[in-house]
Amino acid sequence: MNNLAEFPRQKLPQLLRAMPKAELHVHIEGTLEPELIFALAQRNGIALPYTSVEALRAAYAFTDLQSFLDIYYAGAGVLQHEQDFFDLAMAYFRRAAADRIVHAELFFDPQTHTARGVPIQTVIAGLARACNTAEAELGISSALILCFLRHLSEADAFQTLEQALPYRQHFIGVGLDSGERGNPPEKFARVFARCRELGLHIVAHAGEEGPAQYIRDALDLLGAQRIDHGVRCVEDTQLVERLARQRIPLTVCPLSNVKLRVFDTLAAHNMATLLGAGLCVTVNSDDPAYFGGYLNQNFLETFNALPDLDAGHAIQLALNSFEASFVPEDRKARWRAELSRTVQQVAQ
Ligand code: HPA
Ligand code: ZN
Repeated sequence: MNNLAEFPRQKLPQLLRAMPKAELHVHIEGTLEPELIFALAQRNGIALPYTSVEALRAAYAFTDLQSFLDIYYAGAGVLQHEQDFFDLAMAYFRRAAADRIVHAELFFDPQTHTARGVPIQTVIAGLARACNTAEAELGISSALILCFLRHLSEADAFQTLEQALPYRQHFIGVGLDSGERGNPPEKFARVFARCRELGLHIVAHAGEEGPAQYIRDALDLLGAQRIDHGVRCVEDTQLVERLARQRIPLTVCPLSNVKLRVFDTLAAHNMATLLGAGLCVTVNSDDPAYFGGYLNQNFLETFNALPDLDAGHAIQLALNSFEASFVPEDRKARWRAELSRTVQQVAQ
């Protein structure tokens, strides 16, 4: 098929499912399913304040980012041993393989665990072992990105970086997450300067609940190479032009945005506007155990809700995910070739 305009619309869901893709914005603690919370609580002898998986799931009714974070940090309390972190990440990788994810860059929040007395070595060792196993058994490549919790202090972030440095070979970059409002990028400018000296990749959550100015500051004060979420960039026309010109990727998470009330509905999401502005947008699941779907569910529901999106956009989003990933160009070229084969096959 040489002309994408001929791609049959009824095959769009099949294309979305089958196309190879990279996921660049997923918090591994946000893939902790209620069933695994209960299994780990039992294994580790921890009492939960919920009587059943259903009762826990019923508590997942969020009004904003903070109402989610409270439940998300509590859920992570069942993660205690290296094997727990391994099991968590392997469960994600199995779902990722089913969604045709060829590469995943996973966020992890060490401070959520070290604050409970779990050594950072336990966290990183379990996750790194899962990354190796996923490559060997599922053919998925992956990398870890250490996120600093922005509601904690600069000193806490510096201390976390120090604790992580003996395991420097196991993570490729650093990010910034947790409550955005009132915790501007400038609070962490010196930590990120040190991270850049260490040769780490830099990403940051910005413009999810916070203003467009936080996106500018993440670029200018932290040196961010990608912006996580970033959907509020549209409030600043010059910023949108800059993001497009510099090909700064936005890792957008549609189901997350609706669950946390950044947009009222998927139909009201600005995904099509961002793509129309020529931005390097990618689709991601953020915290899929909490937000109602893994990556393909995000693609399927978004394309279903936004009729302007077609096969060309689907292919562009997959290409963007490869472009935005922190991997060598030859691997990106292999994925692009694989994508092109998949498009031909699905169109037949
Ligand atoms: N925003 C900020 N912090 C987070 C998120 C998010 O969407 N998910 C997990 N931690
Ligand atoms: Zn996130």
